[in-house]
Amino acid sequence: MPGGLRHSVQHRSRRFIVCISDKNHTLRVAARAQALAVHFLPAMAIDLARLFGGETGDHVDKFSLCQWHAGPRGLPILDQCGRWFAGSILEQRAVGDHVAFVLEPFAASNDGGTDTLAFHQAKQLSPGHEA
Ligand SMILES: Cc1cc2nc3c(=O)[nH]c(=O)nc-3n(C[C@H](O)[C@H](O)[C@H](O)COP(=O)(O)O)c2cc1C
Repeated sequence: MPGGLRHSVQHRSRRFIVCISDKNHTLRVAARAQALAVHFLPAMAIDLARLFGGETGDHVDKFSLCQWHAGPRGLPILDQCGRWFAGSILEQRAVGDHVAFVLEPFAASNDGGTDTLAFHQAKQLSPGHEA
C-alpha cells in the first residue's frame, strides 16, 4: 500500500493468522475480542518490543507505559507504529499450546518508513511468559 496512510482495506479476501500462546495475558483479552490490531514495529522501537514482548499484562499495564490512541472500532493503535492493520476475527482455533486467530483485514496504515524491527533484534529479548 505505497503512498502513505490508508484506513480502509480493499482486498477483503486476504486473511492473516496470528498465533497467541495459551500462557499469555493477551490471549485472554483476544479471546473476548471481535477484532485485533497487528503492529509492525519500526527498527528504532526496541523499547516497545521489550515492553510488549518482555513484560506480561498479568503484572504490568502496558498501555499505561506507552503512547497510543483509539483506532478503528476502538482498537488501541501504538503512536510509534505507523504501520499496522486491523482485522476482524473470523475464527479461533486451538493449535497445540497456541490459539490461531484468523483475521480479515478491514483497516490498515503504512504511514512512515519501512525500516521494521528485525527478528534477530527482538529474539534477544526474554519473553514475559514462556512460549
Ligand atoms: C521475538 C518474540 C516473538 C514472540 N512471538 C510471540 C508470538 O508469536 N505469539 C505469542 O503468543 N507470544 C510471542 N512472544 C512472547 C510474548 O510476547 C511474551 O511472552 C509476552 O510477555 C506476553 O505478554 P502478555 O502476557 O501480556 O500477553 C514473543 C516474544 C518475543 C520476544
